[in-house]
Amino acid sequence: MDYRSVTKTFGILTAGGDCPGLNAAIRGVCRAAYDRYGMKIVGIANGYRGLIEKDARVLKPEDFSGILTRGGTILGTSREKPFKASGGDNGDIVEKVGAIKENYRELGLDCLVVLGGNGTNTTGCLLAREGLNIIGLPKTIDNDIVGTDRTFGFNSALAIGTDAIDRLHSTAQSHNRVMVIELMGHKAGWLALYAGVAGGGDVILIPEIPYNIKIIGRHLINRAKSGKTFSIVVVAEGALSVAEAGMDKKERKRYRAETAIPSIAYRLAREIEEETGMETRATALGYVQRGGIPSASDRVLATSLGTAAADLLARGRYGRMVALQGNDIGSVELSVPEGKIKTVPGDHYMIDTAVAVGTCMGE
Ligand code: F6P
Repeated sequence: MDYRSVTKTFGILTAGGDCPGLNAAIRGVCRAAYDRYGMKIVGIANGYRGLIEKDARVLKPEDFSGILTRGGTILGTSREKPFKASGGDNGDIVEKVGAIKENYRELGLDCLVVLGGNGTNTTGCLLAREGLNIIGLPKTIDNDIVGTDRTFGFNSALAIGTDAIDRLHSTAQSHNRVMVIELMGHKAGWLALYAGVAGGGDVILIPEIPYNIKIIGRHLINRAKSGKTFSIVVVAEGALSVAEAGMDKKERKRYRAETAIPSIAYRLAREIEEETGMETRATALGYVQRGGIPSASDRVLATSLGTAAADLLARGRYGRMVALQGNDIGSVELSVPEGKIKTVPGDHYMIDTAVAVGTCMGE
């Protein structure tokens, strides 16, 4: 133990959808906190649910040893959102938040470290307003958290998505087909855009740019006319047609329910066949994108963010989220973004890069 620490005991939890790199980050926080600062660590199971139910245990070095390369999270996770009412009134919010505050006290925590996406860090911020000390770490394969240049999980998912596109290339070529591949990303298209460029997608569709099926059809027909016998279409799960973009949330939900198609890849494949007459197949990659070992780059980022979080704990700098800022690790104030997520800006250089190599962005 080298240094003095303001924080003596802290809790740690992972919340929201899992991603590769969570264990590397847990290890980074815990190793530095334990070895360097001698802190006591309380691992909380299954995200905020574990704090509501007081499902927690003290972590020892053997708990966070040998986990650097492991996928998933040793702590477990859930989508529990204590500030979201599940019934008609706010009674359950009061109860859940009350339980969190009480258990935080009873567990003797000086601070709670939360590893998660926008929802998790927003909850963290709301708990900070309730008087708890919170430090956030940004994770998600969606790369959509405001305040950090990158989230861990993204790079691993990018490699998985790119590998899948590469594999579809060969079968698309053999069968002279159009292949549609759907990647995750409800509101932000980072993953589809990057994997699409890395895999040489001929069409890339992201939620930020509503697509016009006529333009996609024309692009695919022109490719066929120029002698290309197959095409790859990469689509983010949240991509919208121009018509859908004009609808409100309710209308869009009704419209989608009417078509009874499981996801955008299948709908788009049908639209492409109708528009072009080309044989088209759909693949929705799904949860494979969140599984397995983290990439080297994610391990490095998760470890750096983790050790930086331990430094914040030691200095008592609460109410902050560690972040990648250029080539440095820094931190930003935990804030409630009110639905504000980091989407792909219309003038982002990657959109121009894609278009410059002949990719159709659907508009
Ligand atoms: O937030 C990450 C994410 O992987 C999204 O890209 C995806 O839409 C969502 O999680 C799926 O979440 P769930 O695990 O709740 O099905």
